[in-house]
Amino acid sequence: MKANVLKALNEQWNAEYYSAYLYMAMSAYAEQAGFKGAANWLFEQAREEAAHAEHIYEHILERGGTPAFSDIKSPPVKYKNLKDVFAKVAEHEKRVTGMIDAIANLAQDERDHATYNFIMWFVDEQIEEVADAEDLLGKVTLIGDNPGALLSLDATLAQRKFKNPFHKD
Ligand SMILES: [Fe+2]
Ligand SMILES: [Fe+2]
Repeated sequence: MKANVLKALNEQWNAEYYSAYLYMAMSAYAEQAGFKGAANWLFEQAREEAAHAEHIYEHILERGGTPAFSDIKSPPVKYKNLKDVFAKVAEHEKRVTGMIDAIANLAQDERDHATYNFIMWFVDEQIEEVADAEDLLGKVTLIGDNPGALLSLDATLAQRKFKNPFHKD
């Protein structure tokens, strides 16, 4: 693997752990604000991000690259309300989409077909991530301060259970 591709993949797997950290911080906020369902959704989202990190890490090793471990910066822990949380989830996922697209561009430039093919899974994944985040943001925006509707949304979010697509067990 070329050094610039390896560097980009290393930055990305560390960035996926930052995403996990960010969603755990949001989950803690939601839990303490009394939204146990939203806390569950965000916690499962954090687990999903950790699985993304592991998947890239494994790909680096498989290609004979050396994984780099960077400091994971601490995420924001203060949020105004659930709408603020989901607005920030959507914003963050759009940023991640830009990072994934940049890796796809680099892989194309370097004619690294293996990395290009590998990163395409993440390109697809980001479509879903942004769509889901925007869907939830739309819902909390519509709900506003209606407590009944908020609790019903929270009950729906309690159902989410992450299943690691990279592991068969
Ligand atoms: Fe991710
Ligand atoms: Fe994500």
